[in-house]
Amino acid sequence: MIQSHPRISKAVIPAAGLGTRFLPATKATPKEMLPVVDKPAIQYVVEEAVAAGLDDVLMVTGRNKRPLEDHFDRNYELESALEKKGDADRLAKVQESSDLATMHYVRQGDPKGLGHAVLCAAPHVGDEPFAVLLGDDLIDPRDPLLKRMIEVQEQHGGSVVALMEVAPEQIHLYGSAAVETTEDSDVVRVSGLVEKPDPADAPSNYAIIGRYVLDPAVFGILRQTEPGRGGEIQLTDALQQLAADEKVGGPVHGVVFKGRRYDTGDRGDYLRAIVRLACEREDLGPDFRAWLRRYVTEEMQER
Ligand code: UTP
Repeated sequence: MIQSHPRISKAVIPAAGLGTRFLPATKATPKEMLPVVDKPAIQYVVEEAVAAGLDDVLMVTGRNKRPLEDHFDRNYELESALEKKGDADRLAKVQESSDLATMHYVRQGDPKGLGHAVLCAAPHVGDEPFAVLLGDDLIDPRDPLLKRMIEVQEQHGGSVVALMEVAPEQIHLYGSAAVETTEDSDVVRVSGLVEKPDPADAPSNYAIIGRYVLDPAVFGILRQTEPGRGGEIQLTDALQQLAADEKVGGPVHGVVFKGRRYDTGDRGDYLRAIVRLACEREDLGPDFRAWLRRYVTEEMQER
């Protein structure tokens, strides 16, 4: 069923969390600014939004997050120094992030949870469907997910979440979805959602990951949503209400993602992301791979 609705053009990136898993690095620096090879994690996320056709980006920030705004702004001093040196390559790299998208910022004030961060976007988003990309979730650019989610939203209306199958012992780290199959093998209908369930109570091993395409009806629900798990206003709780009553904001579908994804807010995953992306880089990869091979062989011999 094709429905008529405005084209999705706005992306919201909540980046106001405290990043406690990365202390002390994140004491004075936002975790989204930690470099993944030579680009801050957040730049990959903005690039992903732009690649999916969303060039209006609202970042939800908070205290200590000024570097995020500076990164997507011009830096005339640095640009003129590089120009004087005739360093065109580095100049292009500096200008790349400020030319990417139309950036907007809103401050969350108190980090009262992801649901509350999304609600801060309501005045900017208005009454149109919009995308949400979590600032510390990195989807490998070769495995496009958001584009597919937008297609599914355009086909079915309502909201779309991204799901990834995880091991049963991992599901308590995520929101878990109760699902029904559809005629598309990568799309499921979501009938219920639970935030960070005990494995015994998890409706499935489908975990919600950090990409969403949401109907604006979610704002009305978030305004009424009481703090849930961890005393935070949970986006999953609002999505559960959307899934339970499709008259409010249409159905909720899930796109099952099988590609590469890294949670750069988690130290182990952050390291894996850097190693993997560095290995695959044309400029750094050949030397780095050769070193890594030697290092792993030596490590194996020593253990
Ligand atoms: P996380 O659960 O990763 O929390 O938030 P966190 O505070 O950022 O990091 P840790 O767990 O303390 O290390 C998921 C996403 O929601 C955003 C975060 O910035 C992150 O992108 N978020 C979370 C907000 O924007 N505001 C909040 O109040 C909470």
